[in-house]
Amino acid sequence: MGKVEIVLNSLPMSGGDGPNSYSKNSHFQRRAASLLKDAIDKLIMEKLDAKTLISDSNTTICIADLGCATGPNTFFLVDDIIKSIETTLESNSLKTKQPEFLVFFNDLPQNDFNTLFTSLPQDRSYFAVGVPGSFYGRVLPESSVHIVVTVGATHWLSSVPKEVLDKSSKAWNKGKVHYANAAEEVVKAYKEQFGRDMEKFLEARAKELVSGGLLVVGMCGIPKGMSFSNLSDSIMYTSMADVLIQMQFQGLISEEQVDTFNIPIYSASPEEVRILVETNGSFTVESMELMDPTAWLKREMTMEDVRQWMLCIEATMGSLFNNHFGEHLLDDIFDRLTAKLVGLTEKIESSYREKVMLFFALKRK
Ligand SMILES: C[S@@+](CC[C@H](N)C(=O)[O-])C[C@H]1O[C@@H](n2cnc3c(N)ncnc32)[C@H](O)[C@@H]1O
Repeated sequence: MGKVEIVLNSLPMSGGDGPNSYSKNSHFQRRAASLLKDAIDKLIMEKLDAKTLISDSNTTICIADLGCATGPNTFFLVDDIIKSIETTLESNSLKTKQPEFLVFFNDLPQNDFNTLFTSLPQDRSYFAVGVPGSFYGRVLPESSVHIVVTVGATHWLSSVPKEVLDKSSKAWNKGKVHYANAAEEVVKAYKEQFGRDMEKFLEARAKELVSGGLLVVGMCGIPKGMSFSNLSDSIMYTSMADVLIQMQFQGLISEEQVDTFNIPIYSASPEEVRILVETNGSFTVESMELMDPTAWLKREMTMEDVRQWMLCIEATMGSLFNNHFGEHLLDDIFDRLTAKLVGLTEKIESSYREKVMLFFALKRK
């Protein structure tokens, strides 16, 4: 196994199960993930050959959730997958031998695996294993897993693109925290970093999945050719930069700190992922589509929705801010950001929020 460099050691979600934890503030992700349920069901029933799962010599079905965080979303996801598999086996009359399920829960080593394991459902129907490590490298043995799933994780790049932090580069991202509304060179640096990361991700999964196994991914997406500045997340990132600059003017943080803070998240189009999959060559594309993660919100966005959204963002990205600016400033940063965005509710409501979740499923050749 090659050495895996973990550049983002401050990434893991807020641990524990307190009021600001990821486990208590991940319902936006949960709602988005529940949209994937039907797609995953259909996929398992239609595309997963039951004989790939179970044979005379093997009755253990292995599933991995990469970037599982601290729960509980991962438990719902895994349960749904197991139920779909059981239905598939039943309808193929292959359930004569009772299969056993083994689930690999993967996240970065700094993830709060204690919270994950102490909250594992008591009545679960699987054995659970923790697999710490970056999914941009190998995390499982060769041909050891039948289904790999990852939700809300692969838009996190392995690191901030280095050009973005280089004062002498055209991609130097001064006064901004993301490629939203940034120079073309910054967008390009993020895109290229995503390409390199996804290449490594696919290479590792190609080794780990059995032939016929499925790789299912839900992540941030964007229609081909659309500028990120049309998206509601762009309003958030631009407001984050505004808040930080305001705090810099008030002497709370330095200019250097603002200029070197970037959030390593990238939204990919289906077309760019398809090209990367074709270049990798180990998978067939079974599904590739953009979904609407706000489909559950059948009414106009309210100020309260914006507040809830910011609680999720703080639980998800808080440690990046803590590491860079210090824990003592986190509440101040997020109070300012929430107040600013609440004032922009109408603008957020009219921004593009529809097809921004990319769902794709690949089958190992
Ligand atoms: C927003 S959370 C999503 C968690 C969960 N899948 C859900 O739907 O609630 C993203 C997770 O991906 C993990 N992650 C990001 N990059 C990773 C990497 N390179 N390797 C493993 N996990 C990673 C983060 O630590 C975090 O726990």
